[in-house]
Amino acid sequence: MSTTPRDPHRPVAHLRPPRNWINDPNGLVFHDGHYHVSYQYNPSGATHANMHWGHFRSPDLLTWEPLPIALSPNPDGVDADGCFSGNAVSDGDRLVAFYSAHREDRSPQHQPITCAVSHDGGNSFRPRGELLIPELPEGCTMYRDPYVWQDGDGWRMLVGAALADGRAAALLYDSPDLENWTYRGPFAARRPEPVGGTEEFTGDGWECPQYLPAADGPGALLFSTWTEPTGPQRVAVLIGEEHDGHFKAGPAVPADHGPDCYAPALLRAPGGRWLLWGWSWEARDEAWAVADGWAGVLTLPREIHVDDGTLRQQPATELLALRGEHAVHAEGVTDGPQRVDLGSVGRAFDLTARLEPTGNAGLRLLTTPDGSEYLDIRVDTDAGELVVDRDHASLDPRARGGSYRMPCPSGQPVELRVAVDHSIVEIFLITTGQVLTLRFYPTGQGPWRLEARSASGTRLGFAVDAWELHPLVIKEPSTGTAEPAPTSPSP
Ligand code: FRU
Repeated sequence: MSTTPRDPHRPVAHLRPPRNWINDPNGLVFHDGHYHVSYQYNPSGATHANMHWGHFRSPDLLTWEPLPIALSPNPDGVDADGCFSGNAVSDGDRLVAFYSAHREDRSPQHQPITCAVSHDGGNSFRPRGELLIPELPEGCTMYRDPYVWQDGDGWRMLVGAALADGRAAALLYDSPDLENWTYRGPFAARRPEPVGGTEEFTGDGWECPQYLPAADGPGALLFSTWTEPTGPQRVAVLIGEEHDGHFKAGPAVPADHGPDCYAPALLRAPGGRWLLWGWSWEARDEAWAVADGWAGVLTLPREIHVDDGTLRQQPATELLALRGEHAVHAEGVTDGPQRVDLGSVGRAFDLTARLEPTGNAGLRLLTTPDGSEYLDIRVDTDAGELVVDRDHASLDPRARGGSYRMPCPSGQPVELRVAVDHSIVEIFLITTGQVLTLRFYPTGQGPWRLEARSASGTRLGFAVDAWELHPLVIKEPSTGTAEPAPTSPSP
């Protein structure tokens, strides 16, 4: 399989199959010395339909081996119209994948839970065939996306839901054996409330709940907010502690401050480390993605933890090994209004910056030689926010614009880590552990340039380094074929 991008927008350091549609990361699990990453996958096209689980594994987060498709809808089965999202656990020599079984002849928001088992390290899965949890608790108006984890001698499961009383919820089950499940009630449930400091709400229903139970101190319940009639919105997190099957937490806050991260999922890695991947959807017209033959990408794997009541994220340490040529090393001071050219970068780079602005100032990534196309990352010191502005990031009107903000404490240096990969940018504010993900679609063909810029009357002290990003190594599939013929029902 080639790792060369077939078009200028296809990322190289972010995981996705060569073609077609992907959405949520699924079945994230460390098993038999490998990180397993599955994902919602349509093997027949670049639109959301016919959901399978595609599957990669890696020993080190850098070299990935495509495995055969893990789960395929069975045309006569409980999942005839899609194997929707879920996770997987490692249980001795077994990998057990739990997922949402979709049939269009059920209520459209009801995807009951089923499972599939692999005894060969994820090369093949035997679907259960029947539903594992056939009955929904009373009063569920939405139900899907199991998240199973081991707890002492037993197992627990959360399922994303909306309840008839107007609350969105993560419903709790437990099991002694992964086979017999008992419903224990809502683990957390909330009427729509603002997601701290934003104009977003926690939604009518929660998709893909994920739980990080901290060993001591508070843990995190992440969920993706879903609202009628538009569907998926943003990602939020509750920080709190469990008491007798109920998660007591403060107000919801954003888990990613950008517009293009959804359905993030957790992997419990060896050594107590937690990793997270999200789905970064396209921010361009669907017809454009369809013409290019692919849509969606997984975010970088991120290390996450709860510290001082806050969810903190940073790129997985292993990704430092993707750094190649040291393309930019620049230090200085601007006296606004002024711009300073920092040098040129390729279409995939990893940047660190230390910014000390006295007012509005920041960095600009220029993607056309005449400077008419650019992405801005700037500090708004009055608002105490970092602003990422993509209003001019593509000359193609089919790309979405907008500017997005995350809190950025004033009066102290701003430490950033920015990963840019063709059409995705993930901006980590190191000082707060917060992150903002967005997609952008530059049209410029030539080299890209970086600038430091400051507004009139503003000084900006800057120290910027950027390294070209090597592509992930995608191995040739060693067993079977990674992309079997689509299993759509015969006409
Ligand atoms: C979230 C989601 C899940 C569902 C899956 C279907 O993006 O809608 O709730 O299981 O995607 O592809």
